Amino acid sequence: MVEASIPKKILLFGATGVIGKDIVDALVEAQSSFEKIGIFTSPGTAKSKADFIEKLKNSGVEVVVGDVNSAADVSKAYEGYDTVISVLGRNVLLAQVPLLSLAATSPTIHTFYPSEYGTDIEYNAASAAEKPHQMKLAVRKHIRENIDTAKLHITYLVTGPYSDLYIGKMHHDAAVEAGSFDVLGKKAVLLGTGQERASFTTMRDVGVLLVAALKTSTAEKERLLKVNSFTTTPNAILAEFERQTGGKWEARYTSLDKLKELEKQAWEGQSPISAVYTLRRIWTEGGTLYEGRDNGKIGEPGLETLEEQVRKQIQIQGGTLNG
Ligand SMILES: NC(=O)c1ccc[n+]([C@@H]2O[C@H](COP(=O)([O-])OP(=O)(O)OC[C@H]3O[C@@H](n4cnc5c(N)ncnc54)[C@H](OP(=O)(O)O)[C@@H]3O)[C@@H](O)[C@H]2O)c1
Repeated sequence: MVEASIPKKILLFGATGVIGKDIVDALVEAQSSFEKIGIFTSPGTAKSKADFIEKLKNSGVEVVVGDVNSAADVSKAYEGYDTVISVLGRNVLLAQVPLLSLAATSPTIHTFYPSEYGTDIEYNAASAAEKPHQMKLAVRKHIRENIDTAKLHITYLVTGPYSDLYIGKMHHDAAVEAGSFDVLGKKAVLLGTGQERASFTTMRDVGVLLVAALKTSTAEKERLLKVNSFTTTPNAILAEFERQTGGKWEARYTSLDKLKELEKQAWEGQSPISAVYTLRRIWTEGGTLYEGRDNGKIGEPGLETLEEQVRKQIQIQGGTLNG
């Protein structure tokens, strides 16, 4: 039987990005549970995000500067670690193929978390054809066909959409029909009929859930964890904004059919945010809802609520809380 290997020395790739920062924050907060935390970053980022890198070093994080596409740089970095957390961005997901192969032959690495942290890419039969899923699917295929998962344990942390982004104001004017909550204008564009349920994870909670997953490693070769902070509907989000800001908002709806039409146009026009339309269509269709979630398997960590998220968003947009 395969023994559970306990992650103690954690190396992150992509920690300087959108969700990487929350993940590294959560790891630093839980530092006493680990022997070592490090990030691998490019020379360009080490320069352009020097303040952030300095802050990490001051919190006890080791910073390894190298080229993610260099086998020599990566193998050297692996020497001091047992676990790899990839948080690489959407455009570079295939860089994980060599990262995984190198991890599988490394004498020290026993656990690998591929960059997931989003929509379940194997939710149903239709998932295989969804354009934004293709690179993550290719990474899972590489793992299943080429990686000895008895030696390199894999965990996919599937969190669904980040509520921080979903309940924000859409900054691309042309894309406002894909959903938006504008606190100062007291205006919202809601998806579907407003009544479709979706499960969300807050960005802070992605880090909390990842730490919880690390602390509850099992002997499972390929562990899939479907986790989230809360389940709600666009109408319930709007009601919470109205409650906290005091008074009615102007709301309009983008029906599922309209969203599909906009999605088609976005891909045909090669819009840089085509994937946003597709993912929001999937969420509105129910692609984040499961029979049960896996938070309990990793110790049911305390997570944020819709009420807290809305309060945070009002502050981010410079709004005023009622009372
Ligand atoms: N559920 C959701 O709502 C949601 C939202 C956003 C993202 N996600 C998921 O979260 C994961 C991370 O996404 P992210 O948006 O946080 O990533 P990101 O900010 O786009 O990039 C993360 C890091 O990857 C490295 N990177 C990015 N582009 C690169 C390039 N062209 N060449 C070399 N390195 C590059 C950089 O790290 P260094 O420069 O430090 O090496 C960068 O800081 C993805 O799997 C994504 O699908 C989910």
